[in-house]
Amino acid sequence: MGKALDGVKILDFTHVQSGPTCTQLLAWFGADVIKVEKAGEGDATRGQLRDIDGVDSLYFTMLNHNKRSITLDTKNPKGKEVLIELIKQCDVLVENFAPGALDRMGFSWERIQQINPRMIMASVKGFGPGPYEDCKVYENVAQCAGGAASTTGFDDGPPLVTGAQIGDSGTGLHLALGIVTALFQREKTGRGQKVLAAMQDAVLNLCRVKLRDQQRLARRGVMEEYPQYPDKEFGDAVPRAGNASGGGQPGWILKCKGWQHDPNAYIYFITQAPVWGAICKVIGEESWITDPSYATPKARLPHLKTIFSRIEEWTKTKTKFEAMEILNKYDIPCGPILSMKEIAEEPALRATGTVVEVDHPTRGKYLTVGNPIKMSDSETEVKRSPLLGEHTEEVLAQLGYGKDQIEELRAAKVI
Ligand code: COA
Repeated sequence: MGKALDGVKILDFTHVQSGPTCTQLLAWFGADVIKVEKAGEGDATRGQLRDIDGVDSLYFTMLNHNKRSITLDTKNPKGKEVLIELIKQCDVLVENFAPGALDRMGFSWERIQQINPRMIMASVKGFGPGPYEDCKVYENVAQCAGGAASTTGFDDGPPLVTGAQIGDSGTGLHLALGIVTALFQREKTGRGQKVLAAMQDAVLNLCRVKLRDQQRLARRGVMEEYPQYPDKEFGDAVPRAGNASGGGQPGWILKCKGWQHDPNAYIYFITQAPVWGAICKVIGEESWITDPSYATPKARLPHLKTIFSRIEEWTKTKTKFEAMEILNKYDIPCGPILSMKEIAEEPALRATGTVVEVDHPTRGKYLTVGNPIKMSDSETEVKRSPLLGEHTEEVLAQLGYGKDQIEELRAAKVI
């Protein structure tokens, strides 16, 4: 079966996490992704957080599947010649260098357009134009500057970053959409274009509901579904909401049987209005169905703490999976708090290819997250990440370099 992006060539100048997540997705959709790495060193993540000495880290392998790797010193004049050939022959250049690095290398957007007017140049940067545009940025900086940290955590604690890599992988996803959209537009115009996804912007996009709440707060002074209501004062900025639901249906994380010794014996419980009657029946509070203090969503808002602590009395008598099974019979929205261990062992995720076991020549078998986007006509086959420079000769030969020229480049340490 063919793949959606068969025939698309990506010059992958990405490193660390944000850019590589983007190009990995494109590779899963069938693009030929040529990852350019510094000769001798490679992507810094190859050596970071290693669990086996001398072997590419899981950090690297899990972000660089289905790519080819070439080493190239792009600051060397001979290396620049190779890069020019690559720019001529590829459709997209993706990079997430620190601001200005590509210009310093001699490859400004204007120069790239001269070399290949059909080229799409896609960049991740920490910030868009403005006071911080020259700053280097990592995941948690983006979470903080994009509004996520100030709105995450509990009211009586400091701002918190989340485990979901919304700054890096979240921005990579945004960039991938920008790239395929630019490819689509190029079909009509014949021209490439510049695509930018700033990490601050991507995080803010994912925190859209919090900017919604900022404006609700400014207008009304309170937000009745937040845990601060009705007992505490609201300030002038959206407060941290603990585990409150970000939507219109109140929710909270509740203890389940075994919570005293299992840190993940919890369930997320949503008191969705249409199933309020069923919730009351399950927990044995049938009088709440008609009691005016509990009967309507609005009446319930000042009593959410009482309601959730009563529901918790019930969930504490069940394991998270037992509770899930009972509640699902009544269409009550809920979800167990799954540990990474449970996720790694979950057969359904293996069956769909969301968790995949991959074999690697130096590390052996390891687990990775497969393509979360499933397409009926473009199936994903997860292939191991490349070793450093594994495809240098193959790619150079495809560019027209002969054996002697390749040897010369190797002797001069350009590759
Ligand atoms: N050959 C020769 N030089 C190369 C090269 C190659 N193949 N690939 C990269 N380099 C050079 C760059 O040109 C740059 O040189 P310069 O600073 O002299 O101009 C240098 O390597 C370092 O690149 P840089 O991007 O600055 O790496 P860093 O390790 O100092 O910073 C980040 C890392 C992530 C902080 C930075 O790249 C960044 O802010 N990126 C944008 C935001 C981002 O994606 N952050 C999330 C990362 S998960």
